Amino acid sequence: MSDRLYIFDTTLRDGEQSPGATMNQNEKIRLARELESLGVDIMEAGFPAASQGDFEAVRKIAQTIKHSQVAGLCRAMAADIDRCWDAIKDAEHPRIHTFLATSPVHMEYKLRKTPEQVLEMTEAAVKHAAKYTSNIEFSAEDASRSDWDFLAKVAETAINAGATTINIPDTVGYAQPQEFGDMVRHVIENASNSHKAVFSVHCHNDLGLAVANTLAAINAGARQAEVTISGIGERAGNAALEELIMALRTRADYYGIDTNVKSEQLFPTCRLLSMIIGQPIPANKAIVGANAFAHESGIHQDGMLKNRETYEIMTPESVGREKTDIILGKHSGRNAIKGKTTELGYPLEDDELQIVFEAVKRLADKKEKVYDADIEAIILEEVYRIPDKYRLVHLSVQSSDVGVPPSAAVVMEINGIRREHTTFGAGPIDAVFKTISQIVGRSPKLKRYSVNAITSGGDAQGEVTVRLEENGCSSVGRGSDPDIIAASARAFLNALNRLDKMNSEG
Ligand code: KIV
Ligand code: ZN
Repeated sequence: MSDRLYIFDTTLRDGEQSPGATMNQNEKIRLARELESLGVDIMEAGFPAASQGDFEAVRKIAQTIKHSQVAGLCRAMAADIDRCWDAIKDAEHPRIHTFLATSPVHMEYKLRKTPEQVLEMTEAAVKHAAKYTSNIEFSAEDASRSDWDFLAKVAETAINAGATTINIPDTVGYAQPQEFGDMVRHVIENASNSHKAVFSVHCHNDLGLAVANTLAAINAGARQAEVTISGIGERAGNAALEELIMALRTRADYYGIDTNVKSEQLFPTCRLLSMIIGQPIPANKAIVGANAFAHESGIHQDGMLKNRETYEIMTPESVGREKTDIILGKHSGRNAIKGKTTELGYPLEDDELQIVFEAVKRLADKKEKVYDADIEAIILEEVYRIPDKYRLVHLSVQSSDVGVPPSAAVVMEINGIRREHTTFGAGPIDAVFKTISQIVGRSPKLKRYSVNAITSGGDAQGEVTVRLEENGCSSVGRGSDPDIIAASARAFLNALNRLDKMNSEG
């Protein structure tokens, strides 16, 4: 059995199904590039039959990515498979990933098919995909609640029809590690042609076991793991790529399995995703959370000073933390900024570069040191963001004074038309949100508000994330600025712009 594990990243597909994690096309392409340089073997770019937007994004990613394989997801139906192939056919290494449910509950209630019909559909779908490519993955949806012998039969049928990867998903996060490992081993041992395919697992985190189940399956012979950055995904998410990689690396003595992933790029990739989807990384998140390498207790600090290995099983550097390169300031020229944005993996057009150049100058007036993370935040907000209907022009806030409640004066543009208004609030941020809501004539509910520092130091940029809800729709907005009130206004407007876009797309 090979001791190499293929990493199949599905952040752009299953990850994007996570509430509030929608990305625009530019953001998806940027993330796809980052995944490629991180070293993932396969990236699932989307579900082309789901919508025209998904189709276009998958197509663009397929045309952009050169080294990783690019997979498109499709149901086990000819029309879906055709659409998928259309989207991925320009990729250097395209993969069709087709799926069909195999558990009794899914077959009976969702598909209304008998097990025999499911076997026939499996064969027909894989044979249809094989007209386009030999790189075919078949997933048995809800495998972990399926009959083990039936699953082995499905795998055998798919391999005979031409599938080269068989994926065994724990779709509802129901499996337990030992049991899941036994099940994977059973399928590998009982599908007579299993040596002709790579076995894969795809674990959801409903019981917090996604990474544990993935590791158990690897021990049982799986050689592809489907994961997402920071574990985002449907419901409680998927197995987190960074956790799996660092478990395999830190315990190489136990697993003896290699991947192509560059662990030093884990933190920058998680940070990029967090900035794109506007969801902060929780402080206690394994590997990449702010506290993951922080030692608070006196006994731990003492031990660390004597020998880091007392309380540190991996170094922050090994996952790409601690990189605080000061790069630009007031006097940096256009060339320096162009060099930096290219080095960070953002090849910008001249007009985009000009936008970043001006934003860096404005930021350098407010804060002394401009870091890589600041530049990334600028690019994501000023260049990659969907064209805004609502735009902030000016903001002035009066904090509370004796007997006078806080107030905000906001000047905005709505589709290029200038509007202004002032109002009071319970606090300065409440005043800003109320003023903006009154200008735009909407009344979204604020469901979440959080502030994070993008970089370190007293003049760090604050990154504010808000979640708004209006008429059953919800959206996440992100804004950054050294002044957190200004960052809050930007985040609120970003969320409003996303809500507006959702409403106009129906
Ligand atoms: O969770 C799941 O079963 C999936 C499949 C489509 C692979 O996402
Ligand atoms: Zn899934």
